Amino acid sequence: MTLHRSNHPLVAHKLAILRDKTTEPKKFRELVRELTWLLGYEAMADLATRPERIETPLEPMTASRLEPRVGLIPILRAGLGMVDAMLELLPSAEVWHIGLYRDERTLKPVEYYNKLPDAATVQVCLILDPMLATGGSSSATVDILKQWGAARIKQVSLIAAPEGVGTLSSAHPDVDIHVGALDSHLNERGYIVPGLGDAGDRQFGTFAGPASEPGHGPDDETAEVVRRLQREIDPN
Ligand code: PRP
Ligand code: URA
Repeated sequence: MTLHRSNHPLVAHKLAILRDKTTEPKKFRELVRELTWLLGYEAMADLATRPERIETPLEPMTASRLEPRVGLIPILRAGLGMVDAMLELLPSAEVWHIGLYRDERTLKPVEYYNKLPDAATVQVCLILDPMLATGGSSSATVDILKQWGAARIKQVSLIAAPEGVGTLSSAHPDVDIHVGALDSHLNERGYIVPGLGDAGDRQFGTFAGPASEPGHGPDDETAEVVRRLQREIDPN
């Protein structure tokens, strides 16, 4: 398993503002975009290049061009906020959306959108999702991408929980995980603590009331799912 946790002070600074509960959706979206530039730059640091002869106004030289075709795979909804920033870094990337939502009770991902063609059209896939919580959504997306034929897959998330890193790396040890922060744990409703709350709701201003808030009282079944994940990463 390769977990890359950014230690850049700009990432830490922007995450502090992002996490703050008083940060409004407009500012929140700007920060998601800026953090994605920084993490995307780090996540693409090992992409292969090929030599290419070019001529500068002064003389010919051998320059480097990116070799692999890269696909961006935002997980709907919250991953959408990371797409434009990645496209600014790499305008030639293809964008393939995957629609998953997390069942509130079981915390299992439910697929609702997938228009991938039969065979993979890219060599490197970057899964974009601000939150890696239980790891269910990202593991399911990796399953889909591997079945598609993607040769190399990286996960890019702003904040991860140890439970999610554990799930993803056990299921898919070959996937590189790039995060801005690794937080403490999941609460009994499967929210990352301290986290930032619901990344989709905070980006898109969709607050459905107290019953859907991250701190709302636990459901027994949900709490048991979280306890099982916690036992898996720390059996004692
Ligand atoms: C959030 C988030 C991830 C998922 C992470 O999406 O954007 O996709 O939860 O949780 P996991 O690691 O436990 O699977 P959510 O299900 O809230 O859907 P939304 O983006 O449509 O709001
Ligand atoms: N999804 C979110 O948006 N936030 C969490 O803390 C967990 C899952």
